[in-house]
Amino acid sequence: MKIIVTENYDRSCEIAAKMIADVIRAKPDARLGLATGGTAEAVYTYLIKEYKEGNLDFSKVSTVNLDEYVGLSPDHPQSYRYYMDNKLFNHVNIDKKNTYVVSGIGDIEKNVAEFQRKLQEKPIDIQLLGIGVNGHIGFNEPNSVLKEKTHVEELDESTIRANSRFFRNIDEVPRKAITMGIGDIMRAKCLVLVATGKAKAQAIRSLVIGDEIYCRNPSTMIKLHQNATVIIDNELAELVGYKKD
Ligand code: GLP
Repeated sequence: MKIIVTENYDRSCEIAAKMIADVIRAKPDARLGLATGGTAEAVYTYLIKEYKEGNLDFSKVSTVNLDEYVGLSPDHPQSYRYYMDNKLFNHVNIDKKNTYVVSGIGDIEKNVAEFQRKLQEKPIDIQLLGIGVNGHIGFNEPNSVLKEKTHVEELDESTIRANSRFFRNIDEVPRKAITMGIGDIMRAKCLVLVATGKAKAQAIRSLVIGDEIYCRNPSTMIKLHQNATVIIDNELAELVGYKKD
């Protein structure tokens, strides 16, 4: 696992965006694995900028997202479909038919099965990841066991609290989500995880320091990946006591 320390969050996102852009330039019909959350936003801003400057073509790109809240319709402003449309897809020349965010409404079991089929269709060339305050990736929450495949996950109290900032109040935060499993994430050819902020210190510490893998910090699984990059800023690196060796 490669660890990059940058001067600030903005630079971290620029580097992650550049990694994604390079994959698209090398393979115009690449399949991107995308993430939501506050951290990923600036990555999308950079990708849009590259597109607007004529340096990137999304016309053949396909995407699949990590997760979606159960109970939120695609047009709900806090759904991850809505987020993706507004933060990226509506601003680049991607064909929306080639974008996939699992639906959080209707027959959930059927949606999970459809998501699994989607993932089998074509491998993900590069998967963008954020990290939860408890170390979750996608919505794979800390537990005594982790799930390999796409499934419905019961959200952790800490996740509900952290994500309540996007809702009017905590009671509006969905209690469940559909998420790629750890295996689905690990099957991506390349992983890039971006983290920033004090709240992520505990989760990032066990990811970037030591070689332990913990079910109570699902992000540590990516230490096993052949081509994973973690990008943190100086502030977070100092906070967790990470030093380049
Ligand atoms: C959500 C998403 C995760 C994301 C996390 C971090 O819980 N399911 O994929 O990594 O948020 O979000 P933020 O960047 O807003 O801290």
